[in-house]
Amino acid sequence: MINLDLRYAKLNEDLESYQEKVSKAHKDLHEKTGAGNDFLGWVDWPLNYDKEEFDRILALTERMKGKYDTVLVCGIGGSYLGARAALEMINGLYPETGIEVIFVGNTFSHTYISQVLKHIQDKEVVLNVISKSGTTTETSLAFRIFKQFMEEKYGAEAKDRIYATTDKARGTLKDLADKEGYEEFVIPDDIGGRYSVFTAVGLLPLSLAGVDITALMKGSLDAYNDLNTDDLKVNPAYQYAVARRILDNMGYKAEYFVTYHLQLTMIAEWWKQLFGESEGKDGKGILPTSACFTTDLHSLGQFIQEGSKVEYETILYVDEMADDMIFPSDDEDLDHMNYLAGKKLSWVSQMAFEGTLSAHSEDGGNPNIVIHLKDNTAYSFGYMIYFFFLACGMTCYLLDINPFNQPGVEVYKKKMFKLLGKE
Ligand code: PA5
Repeated sequence: MINLDLRYAKLNEDLESYQEKVSKAHKDLHEKTGAGNDFLGWVDWPLNYDKEEFDRILALTERMKGKYDTVLVCGIGGSYLGARAALEMINGLYPETGIEVIFVGNTFSHTYISQVLKHIQDKEVVLNVISKSGTTTETSLAFRIFKQFMEEKYGAEAKDRIYATTDKARGTLKDLADKEGYEEFVIPDDIGGRYSVFTAVGLLPLSLAGVDITALMKGSLDAYNDLNTDDLKVNPAYQYAVARRILDNMGYKAEYFVTYHLQLTMIAEWWKQLFGESEGKDGKGILPTSACFTTDLHSLGQFIQEGSKVEYETILYVDEMADDMIFPSDDEDLDHMNYLAGKKLSWVSQMAFEGTLSAHSEDGGNPNIVIHLKDNTAYSFGYMIYFFFLACGMTCYLLDINPFNQPGVEVYKKKMFKLLGKE
């Protein structure tokens, strides 16, 4: 399902020297003995996920079928990025389902919030508010506004169209949902935001948007089984984790996560959060950044090829993206493009990938890591996400970092609350 290609001799040479450390960290992840071990619930979640709640998500989707054309998803960070990344990868940017999913609660932009409000006036809407803490300001602010919109539009029926995903026992959102009588879904105590896409946090919005969440969970389970080995020779997630540490030690402090399709750019955003929030601590870590080729070769390509050498590239290459097409011939050939006539667009893209890989790694001397994923189905999404969870946990443990907290994020909140006059 996933093949790793390490395009840098040193990575292959040094890999095995990490075997002992990897074996220890593998044990710490699976036996829940490592740093932040009260947040390791995601490790065996594909095996142990809440089946009753999963069925409730499917039942809700079935019950509401035909009654909505717009899903408002209100959340930020880990309560937002996974669902959006999945949606764009699997359903595309202009989905055939006819269901529009709009993400709110991820910004204070009054312009965006006002425009969404205008846009949904005549739509049939359901609203899923997602917050583990129940008090995240961006989410709470947007939720009040869109809750009032729902109440004005639907009156007493609004409560059947609003779903809350939050802590099972406590918090402001939990109390509010209890009082209003919303259907509730749980974010487990031992799964942090950015590791939560396989819980109701991701599954409910995805199911409402028409994604096959059964296939998605099967992908995560197969990844769990395939990658449940500490043997570095056969575990691509751990090979990727180690490659990052080797490059870090060599002074490569920035990682470009590269994709070749615009509908994968949110995967890169999700990946940036996972690695950035998990690893960037104690003055350590690799800066996670991203690019979508070939689009960004016309902006960042020059720097990557010839600029200062601080970065390496990790390319997520999806071998069989959906909806391929043949480039048409033209009798007059005024644009001189007939040399591509009859070729698949996927082949054009592949040649661009191979040419760029050669230019950047051979001519430019940049380390390149290629992660080949089979396709962009829900199953493959589930598989890939678990691969990155595991790689992230491993790479952080190899750096002696607790991957499951984010103390630095609190600093901006404190300063902002002071300015806003929050008690
Ligand atoms: O990964 C994380 O823990 C964070 O990014 C959170 O998901 C984000 O801050 C949102 O938090 P909450 O779900 O409590 O609103």
